[in-house]
Amino acid sequence: MAVTEASEGDHPPIEPAAVTELAEVDLSGLPPGFVWGAATSAYQIEGAADERGQSIWDTYCREPGRIKDRSDATVACDHVHRYVEDVALLRTLGVDAYRFSIAWPRVQPTGQGALDAKGLAFYDRLLDELLAAGIEPWATLYHWDLPQALQNLGGWPVREVADRFADYAVAVHAALGDRVRSWMTLNEPWCSAWLGYGSGEHAPGAADVGLAARAAHHLLLGHGQALAGMRAQAPADHSLGIVVNPGAYRAADSLPPNEVEEVQPAVTELDGLHTRWWLDALLLGTYPADTYAALAPHLQGIVQDGDLDVICQPLDFLGVNYYSDVLLQPRSRGGAVPVPALTEAAGVRVVSGGPESTTMGWPVTPDGLRVLLGRISRDYPPIPVVITENGSAWHDSRAALQVREPALPGPIPDPARVAYLRAHLAALAAAARQGVDVRGYFAWSLLDNFEWSHGYTQRFGLVRVDFDTGDRRPRSSFEAFRALIAAQRAGSSS
Ligand code: FCB
Repeated sequence: MAVTEASEGDHPPIEPAAVTELAEVDLSGLPPGFVWGAATSAYQIEGAADERGQSIWDTYCREPGRIKDRSDATVACDHVHRYVEDVALLRTLGVDAYRFSIAWPRVQPTGQGALDAKGLAFYDRLLDELLAAGIEPWATLYHWDLPQALQNLGGWPVREVADRFADYAVAVHAALGDRVRSWMTLNEPWCSAWLGYGSGEHAPGAADVGLAARAAHHLLLGHGQALAGMRAQAPADHSLGIVVNPGAYRAADSLPPNEVEEVQPAVTELDGLHTRWWLDALLLGTYPADTYAALAPHLQGIVQDGDLDVICQPLDFLGVNYYSDVLLQPRSRGGAVPVPALTEAAGVRVVSGGPESTTMGWPVTPDGLRVLLGRISRDYPPIPVVITENGSAWHDSRAALQVREPALPGPIPDPARVAYLRAHLAALAAAARQGVDVRGYFAWSLLDNFEWSHGYTQRFGLVRVDFDTGDRRPRSSFEAFRALIAAQRAGSSS
């Protein structure tokens, strides 16, 4: 598959000192037994699409105009055939744990019925390889690849899909629970509901507030049903959780006071849809009144008596994915549309791009991680938190790529990714020192991969992947993360 990057960055080569400095980030405060890991997801890396059922992302990729570089994930990183090499990379990295997802259409091609032995066998092999390498598997049951057959029934806006998810989750947990102790039901259900059914930026590509609202409820219901079923059969050492991506909305830094005030109602509305909807339901057993009132016309007969009790199951940990704060400014200042808006948010735009942003256009706001975690521990009952994703996309400069030519072996310098990692880990440790109960950190991502509607134009990997040959080449951030993990372990044991 020929892949062209949108543009090449121009970062100067990394100085060796930067790696040393990374090991000197103040990580005091992280608790003993802190889990270091790297994360991926099935659709983004696996390939071997002909060996599984179709998902909504396969369909979406075929629709003209959906994927920036017109690519798909038929091959992706070809991880199904290269998992041995990928586990070896994880072992070199020195992580305690690997967060991956199970492709629902690989183990249950139509979303119901018996599990597929051949599909399950791939995860058997992967788990055996991980355990032999001393790496703890952390499995996500749903990272966005809904079987197309269930979308044909209406997808997440239909209540029956929650039942199907619970059946699938309980069956996979029963099949693999002898080797996987850490489980996550859903990844970022806000994205599944609001990008999948509200804005159309993700599969299945619907743009309808009512569908998104119903999906938002049924995703949570499916999570609750799944968790209850898994809990009933889980041994005591299993740890069951969910992964959310709370939206850290705030006014852009440079706004004058009157404009800060102007965007405030939108901050509240978006915070309700993106953060409180999920955390209130999961941790408090209620929906936030303001958000529920705004969505009520779409939820008649959808939210039934007892549903919130099902949703609010005891969790062993809360997975939090954090990339960036979302900075808002009045529409009069321009910028891209952020998320599907109800009323107030129609008046604002997200600040995207600029010198302090990744190639995704996401501003680099490390202290936002500390602030977000502080808020979760202040506003909700005590819960162990794991950072299940954090990372950044950058282009490799031409100069950096030359560094790894055979004549000059060594990692590909990626100083911007190293700096991002360093700043976010410092913020995470600061949160821990302020009393947040944080138990682990997973870097996104082990490998460059299929970045959803961006195709292969965005590179998040600690390891660069050549999508023409499949070759993997570690970047300096891989070396830096490895050094830091080792230094933290040495420090916490001394
Ligand atoms: C998160 C997704 C993950 C990846 C990163 C960049 O929202 O969970 O799959 O795409 O963003």
